[in-house]
Amino acid sequence: MIGRVNHIAIAVPDLDRAARRYRQLLGAQVSAPKSLPEHGVRVVFVDTGNTKIELLEPLGPNSPIAAFLERNRDGGMHHICYEVADLSAAVRQLTEGGARVLGDGRPKIGAHGLPVIFLHPKDFDGTLIEIEETAPGQ
Ligand code: CO
Repeated sequence: MIGRVNHIAIAVPDLDRAARRYRQLLGAQVSAPKSLPEHGVRVVFVDTGNTKIELLEPLGPNSPIAAFLERNRDGGMHHICYEVADLSAAVRQLTEGGARVLGDGRPKIGAHGLPVIFLHPKDFDGTLIEIEETAPGQ
């Protein structure tokens, strides 16, 4: 069911500083920052050719990554995002198999303007998994 890794997300305490470091020290292509109030994060994407790294910092007081950064003050790997062709079919298959979808269980629009859901880390060996519906060839 799952396709390619769409991105790996790293929570950072200071997005502008992290973006600068990726640009200057790693010579990476880094997108302009984008605020996603519905997800409580501000993000940039680093293009590594075969996939992307999403750097994210908390946005707003109820950001879901604020607690993560309290536990990991220097930042750290936060989630991994896989692509699927049909998100509702994937959600059906996953929940029938016992995996838990976070939140109200319904897809939200993610950083790429495409529907996403998150799966409970306890169901996947301590790793938060994002599933994104990606149109073929995107
Ligand atoms: Co993500």
